[in-house]
Amino acid sequence: MRPTGSEPSGSLRTLLRGLPVLVGAAPEFDPDHAPDDPVELFVQWLLYAVEFGVTEPHAMTLSTVGTAAGVAGPRPSARVLILKDVDALGWHFGISSASRKGADLARNPAVALTFYWPALGRQVRVDGIAVADPPPVTAEDFLARSEGARAMVLTGRQSEPYSDPDEISEALAKAHLELEHSPSLVPVEWTSYAVRADSVEFWQSDAERRHRRLRYERDGDRWSTTLLWP
Ligand SMILES: Cc1cc2nc3c(=O)[nH]c(=O)nc-3n(C[C@H](O)[C@H](O)[C@H](O)COP(=O)(O)O)c2cc1C
Repeated sequence: MRPTGSEPSGSLRTLLRGLPVLVGAAPEFDPDHAPDDPVELFVQWLLYAVEFGVTEPHAMTLSTVGTAAGVAGPRPSARVLILKDVDALGWHFGISSASRKGADLARNPAVALTFYWPALGRQVRVDGIAVADPPPVTAEDFLARSEGARAMVLTGRQSEPYSDPDEISEALAKAHLELEHSPSLVPVEWTSYAVRADSVEFWQSDAERRHRRLRYERDGDRWSTTLLWP
């Protein structure tokens, strides 16, 4: 049946309460046998999610801290991005510094990443500092994007308000022309970051709500681990 998006016959609250949650496969997770390095465990979980057929397992929520117009004090802001790589430097993603998240990161590099793989009932939380990657990594990341994605970055206007859609069409046409003349152009706005984690938490759901939570915390060059109550 096609969704209609129309009002439920009962209350929305009742509808939401009746929706199933944490019905994923919940594979075995034994924290006692977890590797010493959270990057290793993350890559294991990510590859498992890919093999399992989880939809867009590399989509993650990036939370930043910034300011909001008319509101005093720091404000968190979150959006979904695509993970580009994970290695000893951390979790890599690429963004335009012209965007709201780019402005947040320029002022405050503290971030949180959240992954949720519903088919597996697994969540991973990464807290840390976003460090700009060296220019060759940034260039490689940008040049691997589709032409459309590169052209949109070249417009340099992400997160700005607009009133006339023609503004976007004109800027895009100009950007495509620029790319035609300079196919290896990398705009200064594009930055690849690696999140150097301070803490990483692995969360495995349990139908009886006795979820397993293992938190790694950076301790110099090593990691300490703690089990957390569900
Ligand atoms: C699955 C998914 C993947 C996305 N990937 C990206 C991405 O790789 N880069 C990006 O700038 N925005 C991406 N977006 C859009 C962002 O969520 C966001 O709307 C945009 O970056 C502007 O955010 P900002 O105004 O907070 O800077 C993606 C959204 C979704 C739902």
